[in-house]
Amino acid sequence: MRGKFITLEGIDGAGKSTHHAWLTGFLKSLGKEVVATREPGGTPLGEKLRTLILSEPMHLETEALLMFAARREHLDKLIIPALTEGKWVVSDRFTDATHAYQGGGRGLKHEKIAILEKWVQESFQPDLTLVFDLPTNIACERLARTGNAPDRFERETSEFFDRVRDAYLQRANAEPHRIKIIDAADSMDCIKKKLEEIIITIC
Ligand code: TMP
Repeated sequence: MRGKFITLEGIDGAGKSTHHAWLTGFLKSLGKEVVATREPGGTPLGEKLRTLILSEPMHLETEALLMFAARREHLDKLIIPALTEGKWVVSDRFTDATHAYQGGGRGLKHEKIAILEKWVQESFQPDLTLVFDLPTNIACERLARTGNAPDRFERETSEFFDRVRDAYLQRANAEPHRIKIIDAADSMDCIKKKLEEIIITIC
């Protein structure tokens, strides 16, 4: 039986990576074989592209094309084979991030992203997408507290992140069956409980 594909989304600083690790462990505790991965990245070539994307200034359309180039590899080398073998794949970001960041944040036309999406993945979509939602000012404070050097995206303005957040919320509104919003300001215990409830519905 084909495995399930779960993606985690949200603005930088929303705490998605912590929940990614927890969710992977939770699925394993349910007896699932789980592959944890991320975008951009997830394959040797994808990780090289990630390094470029997060550091090199580039044209907006170059950025979108590289995201989909890395995604094409990711689908071909990791996501589709794992799902076919019955494994569950949990990816820290996928195509909703391109709609939110390159579309909402940077203003790339939705039609252009939709063309690339159709080309690279046809009708393939995650079975479940979890959007960790947090007000931009709180997310920026959390990011600053990590003390890590910010990458090219993390250096963006709060207005940019407001647009990214709005784009995620609009997508969740348009596709309520696939995309669930998690209030990332809630306590860890509360978020875990919510995640457990949602995951049980797709098991
Ligand atoms: P991460 O920090 O969550 O690992 O993601 C790296 C950055 O890449 C993050 O700031 C969001 C950005 N990104 C896009 O702009 N578009 C995309 O399609 C993806 C997958 C990530």
